[in-house]
Amino acid sequence: MTTPILLDCDPGHDDAIALLLALASPELELLGVTTVAGNQTLDKTTANAIRVLDFIGRNDVAVAAGADRPLLRDVYVAAHVHGESGLDGPDLPPPQRAPSSEHAVEFLARTIRERAGAVTLVPTGPLTNVALLLALHPDARPERIVLMGGAVAEGNVTPAAEFNIWCDPEAAARVFASGIDITMIGLDVTHKALFMPEHEARLEGKVGELVRSLLSFYGNFHKQQYGWDGSPIHDAVAVAHVSHPDLVETKNRGVKIDTESELSRGRTLVDLWGRAQWEPNCHVGVDIDADAFLDLLVERLNTFA
Ligand code: RIB
Ligand code: CA
Repeated sequence: MTTPILLDCDPGHDDAIALLLALASPELELLGVTTVAGNQTLDKTTANAIRVLDFIGRNDVAVAAGADRPLLRDVYVAAHVHGESGLDGPDLPPPQRAPSSEHAVEFLARTIRERAGAVTLVPTGPLTNVALLLALHPDARPERIVLMGGAVAEGNVTPAAEFNIWCDPEAAARVFASGIDITMIGLDVTHKALFMPEHEARLEGKVGELVRSLLSFYGNFHKQQYGWDGSPIHDAVAVAHVSHPDLVETKNRGVKIDTESELSRGRTLVDLWGRAQWEPNCHVGVDIDADAFLDLLVERLNTFA
């Protein structure tokens, strides 16, 4: 029994690896890829999704471009992490095809309707497309959302907020208030599972080379910023949680998004101990079997070899 998923992403090095993992997971059926502005501008994140699919010969996988800016906030890209192209490191050719003519939100709605809602939506970028989907197509709700974003503890854009939520806090607030079964894979989990040189050494084939080249660039930021010798593959953890739910421990808690404060813009406030008695609306990732996740990622990436 495979799980149908839709990947809404902003490639981005870790999004690219998450996409590869999704396609190497027999437990999952990737129904399509939608893109959003985030790590880089929409044109670049869209091109990058197609470039990765071109690299593995998967021009059968639909790619639809979505929002080129947050609902309200200004565009802010993470070129300091992912480079000017959004996928600096490897020398990938330009995209061999254009994205679908269908807007990402329309693609998501149509695909979800076609599956009668039996789809897990995996957002790994800002939640703009997801908020638009809920607003424009209230009848086309996925049965589950497993998103990479947020943090119980410190953020990575500010001390308060993680990038995907910080970029578009208004979109995130709508998603977390939607009543849909949501799982939040945040920094508390992804920062515990760093892809280290010993993992890179185990990678095989041309996809292994591609991932090593991606990490050679992406790792620079984590070395300089955190002093780490490895990198968190944030978005791949969200994908792995769908195929292997036991890897990440979650707690069902109330989560609210700060859209008011400038200082704490985009903070995911998690009522972890129930002190606020907020209605639980999210399965919050609190721990991970890092070795099992990293071994799974190496094993699955090597299936392309
Ligand atoms: O904070 C990490 C998240 O922001 C990841 O999804 C990364 O790709 C960026 O989108
Ligand atoms: Ca991302």
